[in-house]
Amino acid sequence: MRGVGWVSAIFLLTPAWCAAAAGTPLAVCPINAESLAQIQKRHALASAEVDDPVYKRKQRYQGFWLRDLLQDLSYVGHPESDVYVRFRCKDGYLPIMPLGRAMSGRGLVAIRDLGARAGEEWEPTLANGALSIPAPSYLVWVSPAGDTEQYPWPYQMVAIELVSSADAVGEAVSSGSTKHGSDVFVQHCLKCHAINGAGGTFGPELNSPCSVTEYWNAGFLSRFIANAPSIRAGTKMPDFRALSGKDVQAIVEYLRYMASHKTAGAACQSGRHPPGS
Ligand code: HEC
Repeated sequence: MRGVGWVSAIFLLTPAWCAAAAGTPLAVCPINAESLAQIQKRHALASAEVDDPVYKRKQRYQGFWLRDLLQDLSYVGHPESDVYVRFRCKDGYLPIMPLGRAMSGRGLVAIRDLGARAGEEWEPTLANGALSIPAPSYLVWVSPAGDTEQYPWPYQMVAIELVSSADAVGEAVSSGSTKHGSDVFVQHCLKCHAINGAGGTFGPELNSPCSVTEYWNAGFLSRFIANAPSIRAGTKMPDFRALSGKDVQAIVEYLRYMASHKTAGAACQSGRHPPGS
């Protein structure tokens, strides 16, 4: 049990702007004007040029080294191998990566685009069909370059959190015959979708109270996962044609397994009409 003593112990060890929140994360570093002013008192602003996969060109940014911000966060009582970094974005996108991997790369938490036109902090880019800017922060990688699956590039990032591996993947993990499907799901899907409430909220929850396997027919479900735009025009779900048919099947089997492992009390009510109609 993580009691009050535990929470206040973290509080004493972490700087005020990265205070530990009660509940799931071990530590939270919010990114907003106030916290950035505090961070700047402690860390020098750095700048770097990167091959930017979002803007699709070389870009120069100013910000703080991710490593420095992570070193300010405490995870007392947890071995480093059990800790994940979670990047919280405005739109519900929530990628995770192991702390060791985050520390091994050269990530910059960018707070300004040095190539933006005079008087602007950022250049707008087309994201999810709309022009938007990455404020308040955008994680970019000087190295390694080009590995966006293992080293995510979240923009409009509002907090960096440390979580235990159990909290990072929540109830989304499974073992036995559905382990492979669960691994593929955690790698590719959890950043946008929650299972039993744990995971990203950019896309819909997939298991509770009704599992997608309960209201989608099996053929269309696999097709949607592999290539959503071939079924729904204008969908914000990316296509996964790079995944093998076997991996897609493994995900569907894993989702079917999770349908019988819902949060206690969650049940998919049957009936032809919504309640009250
Ligand atoms: C970048 C975020 C993102 C990622 C990554 C993503 N999805 Fe989605 N997904 C969405 C969004 C947004 C929707 C809602 C789409 C819509 O309404 O057209 C969606 C819809 C779905 C649906 C339909 C839900 C329903 O009730 O209609 C399924 C099933 C699904 N996703 C499964 C997956 C699986 C499995 C993966 C991993 C292989 C995945 N998604 C990865 C964003 C994402």
